[in-house]
Amino acid sequence: MAEAQSKGVAWVTGAGTGIGRGLAKRLAQDGWNVAASARTAHDLDSLAAQVPGRITAFQLDVTDEKAADATGKAIEAALGPIDLAIFNAGSYFPTTAKDFSVENFRRTVDVNLMGTVNCMGPVVPRMVARRAGHILVMGSLTGFVGLPTAASYGATKAALNSMVEAFKPDFEQYGVTLSVINPGFVKTPLTDKNKFPMPFLMSLDDAVDHIMRGIADKRVAINFPWQMTLGVKFLAALPNWAKFGITRKMIPKD
Ligand SMILES: NC(=O)c1ccc[n+]([C@@H]2O[C@H](COP(=O)([O-])OP(=O)(O)OC[C@H]3O[C@@H](n4cnc5c(N)ncnc54)[C@H](OP(=O)(O)O)[C@@H]3O)[C@@H](O)[C@H]2O)c1
Repeated sequence: MAEAQSKGVAWVTGAGTGIGRGLAKRLAQDGWNVAASARTAHDLDSLAAQVPGRITAFQLDVTDEKAADATGKAIEAALGPIDLAIFNAGSYFPTTAKDFSVENFRRTVDVNLMGTVNCMGPVVPRMVARRAGHILVMGSLTGFVGLPTAASYGATKAALNSMVEAFKPDFEQYGVTLSVINPGFVKTPLTDKNKFPMPFLMSLDDAVDHIMRGIADKRVAINFPWQMTLGVKFLAALPNWAKFGITRKMIPKD
């Protein structure tokens, strides 16, 4: 029976489309019992139908702290202890000087940063008590250097990287692994909206392969593709005159 072969319970947020959906499907195919979360029920239902018996939908808006707490508890009640949590839900709302808006920042922080923290709420204490588990949060290579239009998005992704670095050794004391996933550009509904060039754009399957290898190796930072990783690290290390000389050219034209 499927249950006997289960690798454990994995919770994936933002599982309705894109990277989260790809990961949820791959984990289920690999024998995990997957709890899949997003706001849009029909996306979750169509995902669950792709690997029957392995994926359970738990509809959730990650910005709702109480709902995130209740969902984490409901997953454990229904499926058992969460072994692997991939907090992937996120959104990109471009911002520029001309359209500066406090609301843009609030929405981005609410989903990308606080949405992740809200979902960690019910999971961290349980994993710490059990002295086992692996939590991954979804960063981005954009978090490594400030890039035009990504002021709010990059700020949340940099914050997630900082959070993982700070918590990592502390969580380790309790047998809990913490990782951050930092993709470059991956072809998903999110990047389909971008009008700017996306160097080294990857297929969803390739991105899922990278992430699955990183999970197996319990890597602290799953950065890919390597060309883009080198590029952003190089850009970040440049003196300001050279860095802004490059990023100035990335400002969208009216
Ligand atoms: N694609 C890339 O190139 C790329 C690169 C670096 C990092 N990332 C990160 O990877 C993650 C996934 O991105 P993607 O490209 O796969 O985007 P996507 O296709 O737009 O998927 C985003 C997922 O998050 C869910 N979501 C959004 N807001 C939510 C909320 N408030 N509560 C719960 N779920 C919510 C969406 O479903 P609902 O709308 O139904 O809730 C959807 O399932 C994001 O964190 C993104 O920042 C992506």
